Amino acid sequence: MVSMKLSHGLSIPSVGFGTAPLKGQEAYEAVKEALRVGYRHIDTAAIYLNEAEVGRAIKDSQVPREAIFITSKLDASIKTYQGALEAYEASLRALGVQALDLYLIHAPWPWEAKYSEHHAGNVAAFNALIDLYKAGKVKAIGVSNFDIVDLKNLQDHCEMLPQVNQIKCHVGHFPSELIHYCQAHDILVEAYSPLGRAKILQHETIHHLASKHGVSPAQVCLRYPLERGVLPLPRSSNPANIKMNFDLAFSLDEEDLAILDALTLESVEFGTPVTPKKP
Ligand SMILES: NC(=O)c1ccc[n+]([C@@H]2O[C@H](COP(=O)([O-])OP(=O)(O)OC[C@H]3O[C@@H](n4cnc5c(N)ncnc54)[C@H](OP(=O)(O)O)[C@@H]3O)[C@@H](O)[C@H]2O)c1
Repeated sequence: MVSMKLSHGLSIPSVGFGTAPLKGQEAYEAVKEALRVGYRHIDTAAIYLNEAEVGRAIKDSQVPREAIFITSKLDASIKTYQGALEAYEASLRALGVQALDLYLIHAPWPWEAKYSEHHAGNVAAFNALIDLYKAGKVKAIGVSNFDIVDLKNLQDHCEMLPQVNQIKCHVGHFPSELIHYCQAHDILVEAYSPLGRAKILQHETIHHLASKHGVSPAQVCLRYPLERGVLPLPRSSNPANIKMNFDLAFSLDEEDLAILDALTLESVEFGTPVTPKKP
């Protein structure tokens, strides 16, 4: 399995399997199927309410625990040091594992107060993650949905930077300023909703590139972030799609990438014809 490296040298399998909003038996079956076809990186979160099923699928898969990279996330409403430590232990219990490979602050703000400011709370929560990391209780730590201002806050007040920032990122919505900022600071960017929740898969440009390479539109959309050093986390509960999304051993050339860079959210969601940007 191909992998990327985090700032401290830890390998992370370069395609992760997303599990939200899968629940119950559907989550269990999907994760088991993903592990059967070769994924070794599973993304869950306390708020997904599927950690128990994800953990059961991992145990039943017969793949050794140490061969799987497991990420979970601190509920975005928890903004205290002690609350973060307790939530980490709760995630371990729910998943039935001794430690996580990666633990993220799910968002800089509680979901019910999106974009509200919680700088002090994020510092307190991230300090808890730093202490878990320094105690060897988690292999890597990071954040999700953090913008540059949120990252700068941690940079100014914490002794280390996140190793990962998991953000919404797909063809047509590729926040390049934030991605460049992360990459310049050795923060690996993970792309959530890398298929744009399947809304972008009908676009003619993506179909054109898929025929050019003899792959599917979904594979084009997942190869794109990889070519830009961004790690995709596709989700599916369909066995054929689960397998397809893992089979990304082809390359996009510079011309393809320029065409994909030029797509905008309007163009991919509503099918407006796109003229590539001039180099
Ligand atoms: N950190 C955060 O705040 C955050 C937020 C959102 C998501 N995430 C993570 O990112 C993961 C992925 O994001 P997402 O679930 O929002 O969206 P996504 O992966 O972009 O899209 C999932 C949708 O695409 C369809 N699909 C998958 N593979 C396909 C293929 N090969 N061909 C056609 N359709 C395909 C799936 O349907 P089928 O099941 O029928 O294949 C499903 O409807 C989540 O599961 C979660 O782990 C994180």
